[in-house]
Amino acid sequence: MCGIVGYVGEGQAASFLLDGLTRLEYRGYDSAGIAIYDGQKIQVEKSVGRLDSLKEKIKDAVPLGGLGIGHTRWATHGRPVEMNAHPHTDCTGEFVVVHNGIIENYLTLKEELIQQGHTFKSDTDTEVAVHLLEEVYDGDFEKSVREVLHRIEGSYSLVFMSKKHPDRLICTKQDNPLIIGLGECENFIASDIPAIIDRTRRAYIVKDGEIVVVKKDAVKILHHDGTLGKLEVFHITWNAEAAEKGGYEHFMLKEIHEQPKAVRNTISPRIAKDGCSIVMDELQWDAEYLSSFHKIFMIACGTAYHAALVGKYYIEKLVRLPVEVDIASEFRYRSPILDEQTLAIVVSQSGETSDTLAALREAKKLGAKTLAITNVVGSSVAREAEQVLYTWAGPEIAVASTKAYTTQLATMFMLAVYMAGIKKNISSPRMQVLIQALQRLPEQLGKTMEDVEQIKTFAKQYGFREDVFFIGRSLDYSVALEGALKLKEISYIHAEAYAAGELKHGPLALVVEGLPVIVLATQKKVYEKTISNIKEIKARDAVVIGIAVEDDHELEKYVDHVIKVPVTEELLNPLLTVVPLQLLAYYAAIARGCDVDKPRNLAKSVTVE
Ligand code: F6R
Repeated sequence: MCGIVGYVGEGQAASFLLDGLTRLEYRGYDSAGIAIYDGQKIQVEKSVGRLDSLKEKIKDAVPLGGLGIGHTRWATHGRPVEMNAHPHTDCTGEFVVVHNGIIENYLTLKEELIQQGHTFKSDTDTEVAVHLLEEVYDGDFEKSVREVLHRIEGSYSLVFMSKKHPDRLICTKQDNPLIIGLGECENFIASDIPAIIDRTRRAYIVKDGEIVVVKKDAVKILHHDGTLGKLEVFHITWNAEAAEKGGYEHFMLKEIHEQPKAVRNTISPRIAKDGCSIVMDELQWDAEYLSSFHKIFMIACGTAYHAALVGKYYIEKLVRLPVEVDIASEFRYRSPILDEQTLAIVVSQSGETSDTLAALREAKKLGAKTLAITNVVGSSVAREAEQVLYTWAGPEIAVASTKAYTTQLATMFMLAVYMAGIKKNISSPRMQVLIQALQRLPEQLGKTMEDVEQIKTFAKQYGFREDVFFIGRSLDYSVALEGALKLKEISYIHAEAYAAGELKHGPLALVVEGLPVIVLATQKKVYEKTISNIKEIKARDAVVIGIAVEDDHELEKYVDHVIKVPVTEELLNPLLTVVPLQLLAYYAAIARGCDVDKPRNLAKSVTVE
């Protein structure tokens, strides 16, 4: 996620901007930039890569001035190259903006602005905001920013600076964090507390829809309707490390809690305004193109592989095309049968996993069409695949993947609905029901995290066992695999996932008194069969924790404990049932004193075979 900073005061803006951005480095970024007003002009400096490159670039001529904005970019729209780095300027160079988030209607606005004579210099969605400001500006900075906000849709935090108003910065936010740091004869803007922690402990947390005018000695808050808001001061007590994690003890826990927002960011730009269809501007497929495929391969590693297993189910169920899922490290060594009538989909959070990249190259060599589902813009798989769908989860820092998985699932679900729509395999009312369910997910994801006491108790109770089983059927089996991986990688407990029907073909021999078995039972078609498997386990005196949907009042009769998730379309259950499993793994690791964010022997991005 991008980092934003702003400064207005009697000191040198550059000093705060560079320090503040350094403090935000943990958020992940691929380029950086600053804009400073030196009393005559606005000087913009940008650089690709680490902040050090930017510091090196300007070290002999640091821009001077007490008004400035800065940004670290984590690419979404447009590759990580200098022209796409922020700040962005209008045609005259008199207005500048930095942005975090996604402007969903940027394509329409861009077309309109180009027709009005504006020249764009980047591929970003952000640039429309500053040209729009130039277009509507009538001498009143605040009023013009308000007009810009009326026109843009999406999620954002934005800071505007203007040469015409050198005493102020104007900022606003919607669904993205933004804070104002309150100093003496200087004030600060930042997307996160760590940026300001060395300068002040007094902050104002900007609320959605507010416009804040920041001067060196005054901060004015304007509500959406133009009325004045109250400056409620928040006293920061966190140390720098706690601030980076947003107050959470670990990045993993922060990222688990970011899932509602991450999924919202992934889905909302892809749902048509009328809520009746999925829009995939990135693909623009038609029936003829789809009919050229006889088969789909999905290839990935680890958590992404588990997500692909769910993706297979979605595509086969909704699109009725056969899908084969492969572990990337196995794929190219087994003479896979692919040709130009095959679509190969590689799934990778980082986009840099070497086995996945090699599998992508192999699929291309064999003539298949290729599509990457990845979280990192400009990553190797994004560059090498013919087409890309980004997951918009924001940077994932903890080694254990959480929000990447749920956003991959959401992306694959939308892809399946999109393809089914083109192939006319789905009726309009059914499509609408599925899309409505998708739109409810962010809120429902939030609900799954509301009460963690029960999960903490299980984690303590069973966290010291050496073995745990996860079982399920159909989609529940795919989630069981992910639950077991999460537990083993961060808590080092031996966890095995099995298709519930496979138990009596071998693993039942390991089921003994007291063994914790986590059973997912959310799929109606196989529900009774799962209950039979639970009975087999209970007959061996194992302890069963069931994962069920809220309207299931049956499961508690057969298991020792139940964790419930909100009711959604059955196909979407994996996005909700995985959350208690992530939390169980997290709290079990805590109970065992493990290093949650950096588990032993593991790396975030596996770039070796
Ligand atoms: C598990 C985990 C790994 C990754 C795997 C693939 O929590 O993070 O299993 O899923 O290494 O990584 P990407 O998705 O970056 O290709």
